[in-house]
Amino acid sequence: MKAAITTTAKYLPEEVLSNFDLERMLDTNDEWIRTRTGIRERRILRDPAKPTSFMCTEVARQLLDKRGITADEIDLIIVATMTPDMIFPSTACLVQGNIQAKNAWGFDLSAACSGFVYGLHTGAQFIESGNCRKVMVIGADKMSSILDYTDRSTAILFGDGAAGVILEPAREGYGVLDARLYSDGANGKEHLLMPGGGSLNPPSHETIDQRLHFIKQDGKQVFKAAVMAMADVAEEIMERNGLTGDTIDYLVPHQANQRIIQATAERMGIGMDKVMMNIEYYGNTTAATVPICLAELDEQNKLHTGSNLVLASFGAGYTWGAIYVRWQ
Ligand code: UT7
Repeated sequence: MKAAITTTAKYLPEEVLSNFDLERMLDTNDEWIRTRTGIRERRILRDPAKPTSFMCTEVARQLLDKRGITADEIDLIIVATMTPDMIFPSTACLVQGNIQAKNAWGFDLSAACSGFVYGLHTGAQFIESGNCRKVMVIGADKMSSILDYTDRSTAILFGDGAAGVILEPAREGYGVLDARLYSDGANGKEHLLMPGGGSLNPPSHETIDQRLHFIKQDGKQVFKAAVMAMADVAEEIMERNGLTGDTIDYLVPHQANQRIIQATAERMGIGMDKVMMNIEYYGNTTAATVPICLAELDEQNKLHTGSNLVLASFGAGYTWGAIYVRWQ
């Protein structure tokens, strides 16, 4: 038995932070940001009383509404995030409490930009084993809470957002059919990280002074690794499943950089008309990019029974992977 995505939903904060807004805050400009990344604007959830669990709860409520079920039918909630409300309790528990999913257990999954892809594969296992009938997988990040708005190399890239799906047992031949996931901590750990706040560098005056509670990225190194890895894994999932550029309906890639997405599509032999891209409007929302893309394809009625989707991601860790979904 495989797991099908039966419902999708997304939440994006209303406030838009454009490249022109950033020009007033940093030594940067719209043209540089657009040509190097593809981003024009991103959404920001400024209200400190609305953390990541707020966005997840909005998504969870929409998922229940759209599916027409009550919260007590949910068996498991997986929240993929690198900006949890707190180190503990988990954001998944906060969401479970907010929607009163009294029969659900849940946990947070830490895989940065690959969080949703990792979470989808994980959630699918609980359906495949027969252990769960309804699993919520949500990817959410309030990136504005860990961005250094004095660092132009990272501040321009990210935005806030959340989205998710409900997984349920699939009809024969449909659903999450294959996944190939990777990690490489040896090469990844130095190039994309938030050094402060954990057990290595617990919060102190020094960690604050050294700005260790913000995201740090060596963009060039990550770019090189991302271009190679995302294209390799997408190609691998195609080969394993006998897919070609013609038989794939949509590539649903992580939205970190338009140039990485284009390189992946090129290697897959798939035209840009079949590539879901919304980086222009939301920037990189980390664990939320892939499910936001899915939710938008679904809203636009582009997903039909039998549509072949390849989801692909690359992020901190390094973590990366690709998933083949045959839409039910
Ligand atoms: O989602 C998680 C995974 N993350 C990624 O996949 C991100 C991967 N990396 C990237 O997308 C790109 O490396 C960036 C978009 C982050 C940077 O683009 P780049 O083409 O690699 O630029 P660069 O870092 O090599 O910088 C080129 C120049 C530098 O100036 P010099 O040394 O050539 O004079 C930078 O100082 O651009 C400068 N620069 C900027 N200029 C204006 C860097 N950031 C900015 C900026 N505005 N915001």
